[in-house]
Amino acid sequence: MQLQKLAAILLLISIGHSALLAAVGAPPPPPGSSNCSTACGGVDIPYPFGIGPAGCALPGFELTCRDTNNGGKKPFLGHGGHFELAGVSLSDGQARVWNNISSYCNDTSQTIMDVVSFADPYRLSQAGNTFAVVGCQAVAVVGVGDSADNIVRFLSGCVATNCGRRGDRLADGACSGAGCCQTTITKGFNAYQVEFQNYSTVFNSSKDIYNVSRCSYAALMESSSFSFRRSYATSSEFFDANGGRVPVVVEWAVRNASNCVEARKNRES
Ligand SMILES: *[C@@H]1O[C@H](CO)[C@@H](O)[C@H](O)[C@H]1NC(C)=O
Ligand SMILES: *[C@@H]1O[C@H](CO)[C@@H](O)[C@H](O)[C@H]1NC(C)=O
Ligand SMILES: *[C@@H]1O[C@H](CO)[C@@H](O)[C@H](O)[C@H]1NC(C)=O
Ligand SMILES: *[C@@H]1O[C@H](CO)[C@@H](O)[C@H](O)[C@H]1NC(C)=O
Ligand SMILES: *[C@@H]1O[C@H](CO)[C@@H](O)[C@H](O)[C@H]1NC(C)=O
Ligand SMILES: *[C@@H]1O[C@H](CO)[C@@H](O)[C@H](O)[C@H]1NC(C)=O
Ligand SMILES: *[C@@H]1O[C@H](CO)[C@@H](O)[C@H](O)[C@H]1NC(C)=O
Repeated sequence: MQLQKLAAILLLISIGHSALLAAVGAPPPPPGSSNCSTACGGVDIPYPFGIGPAGCALPGFELTCRDTNNGGKKPFLGHGGHFELAGVSLSDGQARVWNNISSYCNDTSQTIMDVVSFADPYRLSQAGNTFAVVGCQAVAVVGVGDSADNIVRFLSGCVATNCGRRGDRLADGACSGAGCCQTTITKGFNAYQVEFQNYSTVFNSSKDIYNVSRCSYAALMESSSFSFRRSYATSSEFFDANGGRVPVVVEWAVRNASNCVEARKNRES
């Protein structure tokens, strides 16, 4: 029994979630699903995600539909979670979630260390996201880990600099150092942390760039949603575009062997 369980788990890990979903088909709705909501705040909620009484979602995929200050009811991951769901894709096993942009401003004196941590079954997507840093003297490091308490693994980061006088070296669409840089994160982790470093300290520089940009920004975000603009480095436009938020892509999978057995039973019935 234990060995069977282990084998099933190993199988799940080795075939990956897309293959798994293909094998069980698009998961069928649970029995008694007429009391489950299929949408919230304009976002479609397909099974195995669900809102409503027990049984509407597979364990771990429960969502809450609740009121927000701006824009009515919205779906959130889990019960009382703070991640607002922007959308679910069944075909590639991904979901988009609203994430806060980290900022480091002229008047900031303390170190910024923003930690973002998802619970199972969500993992940060490597392929779907970019770690984008915007600024004229910005050094930002991103670390990933299994949880908020266990971050310092696979550190990566980049330097955005050299905007030029009044931003004349910046170019729309070019995120390659001048005013913008980006990097990817390591695959398979639930949590990440953003840390800005003091540019003057790192590069022993005393140049004053604050004429050009007051704040630097960094976010792990959906790469297809990011296209650098000159104004991002010289103003707060990047931050303001969506109220300080950007979408981040997470991968989800039915990783629990017994859930998988249940899903298969459903298909047969
Ligand atoms: C739906 O909810 C109502 C009221 O709570 C209940 O009487 C009914 O049995 C439920 N239907 C299903 C299919 O679970
Ligand atoms: C974003 O920041 C706001 C304000 O500080 C906070 O209430 C919210 O929980 C944060 N959201 C996430 C996903 O961290
Ligand atoms: C960065 O370091 C420089 C030189 O030590 C210091 O003057 C400046 O206040 C620091 N800036 C921030 C934002 O901490
Ligand atoms: C910064 O602003 C001051 C005063 O407005 C100006 O004299 C100076 O040339 C500016 N520096 C840059 C790099 O634009
Ligand atoms: C930093 O720069 C100053 C002069 O610009 C120089 O005197 C000093 O030795 C430098 N420090 C380091 C650690 O390189
Ligand atoms: C940045 O900070 C310096 C020193 O505190 C200040 O003189 C300058 O006006 C600030 N620049 C901006 C754009 O806020
Ligand atoms: C896996 O499923 C079993 C039975 O449904 C449940 O007891 C267990 O908590 C689940 N584990 C996770 C990590 O969801």
